Amino acid sequence: MPKAIRIDAYGGPENMQLVDVAVGDPGPGEIRIRHQAAGLNFIDVYQRTGLYPLPLPLNLGMEGAGIVEAVGEGVTHLKPGDRAAYASNPPGSYSEARVMPAKNVVRLPDGIDFETGAAMMLKGLTAQYLLRRVKPVEGLEPGDHVLFHAAAGGVGLIACQWAKALGLQLIGTAGSAAKCELAKAHGAAHVIDYSKEDFAARVKEITGGKGVKVVYDSVGKDTFDKGLECLRPFGLMVCFGNASGPVPPVNPGMLAAKGSLYLTRQTLFTHIATREATQQMADELFAVVGDGRVKIRIDQRYPLAEAAQAHRDLEARKTTGCTVFTMPG
Ligand SMILES: NC(=O)c1ccc[n+]([C@@H]2O[C@H](COP(=O)([O-])OP(=O)(O)OC[C@H]3O[C@@H](n4cnc5c(N)ncnc54)[C@H](OP(=O)(O)O)[C@@H]3O)[C@@H](O)[C@H]2O)c1
Repeated sequence: MPKAIRIDAYGGPENMQLVDVAVGDPGPGEIRIRHQAAGLNFIDVYQRTGLYPLPLPLNLGMEGAGIVEAVGEGVTHLKPGDRAAYASNPPGSYSEARVMPAKNVVRLPDGIDFETGAAMMLKGLTAQYLLRRVKPVEGLEPGDHVLFHAAAGGVGLIACQWAKALGLQLIGTAGSAAKCELAKAHGAAHVIDYSKEDFAARVKEITGGKGVKVVYDSVGKDTFDKGLECLRPFGLMVCFGNASGPVPPVNPGMLAAKGSLYLTRQTLFTHIATREATQQMADELFAVVGDGRVKIRIDQRYPLAEAAQAHRDLEARKTTGCTVFTMPG
């Protein structure tokens, strides 16, 4: 039987067990996929701890790549034998094989290997919507400054490169000098070590006192308040994660006091709600990866059985770029 990583209760990485799972035939709108690799994402931690509660027992993982083995009724965009990759609900990609909805699964271009496919879908589609679909009211033009937290992480290094390709001046924050160097080498115009420097003061300095048009904040609790200080009038705070913990409730009056700011909390899953949108976003991602504007950097690989260690390392801020799980077979 195929193996999968499952939790029976919310909690620490020690709850993650490698178990045998029965994988049947796909129903209408579903496929069966045999994974060649799966991707690690911070959302897997939120689901494991119960910050984002889902029914238990829960097979973890939202990102993977592999070969389509069977397609259910009504699935026309995939066929058995296709190379495919996805970011998708429900979780279950930390597995050798699974049955899943076909909607968010796309064909993987021949030039992109399975590990890259497994690493890039959730993180790359996130960078796509953040930079291409979520816009400040005054628009985003080449030369504009934006602030991107955790710039040396999985989403971060993709965003650094994509922002550069769009002509944006991305100011990246990261938690060490080495991580800052990595972000800079991947296209960040400026970097700030927010473990040592006051990032709001540095952003003011870099932008000549004006501030940035957009702050992309996936760190949450530790960076939110100071991030608002970095915005220019009518600027946009895009919250999209809680690596340091969720942002406490916000008083809207403060947005007025700081310059009629805009605040949004985004999730990829609204953007990929339809197959058409998923395909269009994936096509853009495949284009920038295909022509080398964005390189998918895989800095960590773990056998599937060691998924718990991967979670420990991610939560301890030991990882950079993307992390993938290799399959036992
Ligand atoms: N809403 C969405 O659509 C969406 C989609 C994808 C990802 N996300 C979010 O985007 C973020 C990045 O995801 P990822 O999978 O690529 O992870 P990642 O950036 O590779 O890892 C998270 C990084 O956050 C930073 N961080 C700051 N404070 C932290 C803390 N207290 N504990 C742990 N890490 C901390 C660390 O970098 P430094 O050491 O450099 O600070 C760490 O490496 C996550 O918050 C994730 O939930 C959201």
